[in-house]
Amino acid sequence: MGLFGRQSKKDVFDIRKINIGVVGCGNISDIYFRNLTKTFSNTNVYACADLIADRAENAAQKWGIANVMTFEDMLLCDEIEIILNLTTPQGHYDICKRSILAGKHVYVEKPLSLTFNEGCELVKLAEEKNVLLGGAPDTFMGAGIQTCRKLIDDGIIGRPIGATAFMMVPGHERWHPNPEFYYKKGGGPMYDMGPYYLTALVNLMGGVSEVCGMGNISFPQRTITSEPKNGEIIDVEVNTHIAGLLRFETGAIGTIITSFDVHKTNLPKIEIYGTDGTLVVPDPNTFGGKVSLFKPNGSGFEEIPHTHIYAENSRGIGVADMAQCIVEGGVLRAGKDLINHVLEIMCAINSSDTKKEYYKMQTVCARPAPMPSDIIKGETYKQAK
Ligand SMILES: NC(=O)c1ccc[n+]([C@@H]2O[C@H](COP(=O)([O-])OP(=O)(O)OC[C@H]3O[C@@H](n4cnc5c(N)ncnc54)[C@H](O)[C@@H]3O)[C@@H](O)[C@H]2O)c1
Repeated sequence: MGLFGRQSKKDVFDIRKINIGVVGCGNISDIYFRNLTKTFSNTNVYACADLIADRAENAAQKWGIANVMTFEDMLLCDEIEIILNLTTPQGHYDICKRSILAGKHVYVEKPLSLTFNEGCELVKLAEEKNVLLGGAPDTFMGAGIQTCRKLIDDGIIGRPIGATAFMMVPGHERWHPNPEFYYKKGGGPMYDMGPYYLTALVNLMGGVSEVCGMGNISFPQRTITSEPKNGEIIDVEVNTHIAGLLRFETGAIGTIITSFDVHKTNLPKIEIYGTDGTLVVPDPNTFGGKVSLFKPNGSGFEEIPHTHIYAENSRGIGVADMAQCIVEGGVLRAGKDLINHVLEIMCAINSSDTKKEYYKMQTVCARPAPMPSDIIKGETYKQAK
C-alpha cells in the first residue's frame, strides 16, 4: 500500500477504533456525533459530558452513546484516549490543559485558546506529556480546498504571489438567540471566523512570517433584532471590522478582512493569485464548494471538478486523522503547530494595530500533508509519514 494508497476493506475491518470522550453537547456537537459514530470507521464515541446534564443525556440517547459522565470522570477513565473539547472558546484552555495533564490526546474546536501565551503553553504541555493536540477547523481537509491544494501543488497557477480572504457580514445579532458573546472579549469576527480563512490560507500558501493589522469598532452599540432578546442593546468591546496583511514565508502577500459591519459584499471568499493564473477557493467554512480557475490563455474563469471526496459536512475528519495517528504514528494534519500558528496570526493582527508596528511571527508552520485523492467515504486514509 502506497503512502497515500487506498486501504482494502480488510484493513478497514481490522482497524482499531479509538475511544473519544466528548465535552460540550451544544450546537455544533450534533455533526461531530454523527460523523464520529457513523462516517468514520476508526472512531468510537465512548462518552459525553455537559454542564447541562440534559444535553449530555439527550445526545447519548440520540446517538447511542454508552456512557454519560462528568468531564472529571472522563479524565480518570482509562478507556478514553481522545478528549474532544466542544465547549465555548472561554473554556478551551482550561479543558485542554486538564486533559493533557491527565495524559489524554485532545482535539479542540476553534480557536485553540483566547491568547497566544495560552496556546504556546498548551503546545509545550502536549509535547512534554507526549500526547497529540489538534483542533478545528478541519474543513481544509474537504473536497473543495483539497482540490485547490492539488491545483497549486501541480503548478497550475505557477508560483503563488498573493492571496485575498474576505469574511464580511452584517453581524450575528440578527439571527443568533444569544449574540452578546460575539461582541465581548474572545469574540469579534476574526476570532469567530478567522480560523477558517487563515487555516485555509496556510494550507494553500504555507506559514506566515510577518503580520500587520488595523481594526475598528464601527458601532459601539448593537441592537439585537433576533428573538427572544429583540430590542436589547449590546455594548461592543472588541473590533468588529478588522483588516490584516500577511507576509508568507514564501514572500507572497495575503490580505484578510473580517467584519460584522458590512451590509453586503460581492467579493469572493478566498482567491489565490499565481504567476500563471488565478484560483477562486470555495467558502472555507464548508467542505465542498465551487473551485474556479482563470488561465491567461484560457476563456475566462472555468469551474474545476473536485479531485477529492468529503464535499459534505465532514466535521470530525480531523479527529479521525488524530485516531489514525494514534494507531500508526505520523503527523496530524489539523495539528497543534497549525492551530497555534493561526491563533498567533489572529492575536498579531490585533497587537500590530495596538502597538502600531509590524509583528514578526514566533511560530513556524509547515503546510499540512495533502489528503489522498483515492480514498472511499467512511474509510480512514493512509496517513502521511
Ligand atoms: N455553533 C456553530 O455553528 C459552530 C460552528 C463551528 C464551530 N463552533 C465552535 O464550537 C464550539 C462550541 O460552540 P457551540 O455553538 O456548540 O456552543 P454551545 O454554547 O451551543 O455549546 C457549548 C456546550 O458546552 C457546554 N460546556 C461548557 N463548559 C463546559 C464544561 N466545563 N464541561 C462540560 N460542558 C461544558 C455548555 O453547557 C454547552 O452545552 C465553539 O468553540 C465554537 O466556536 C460552533
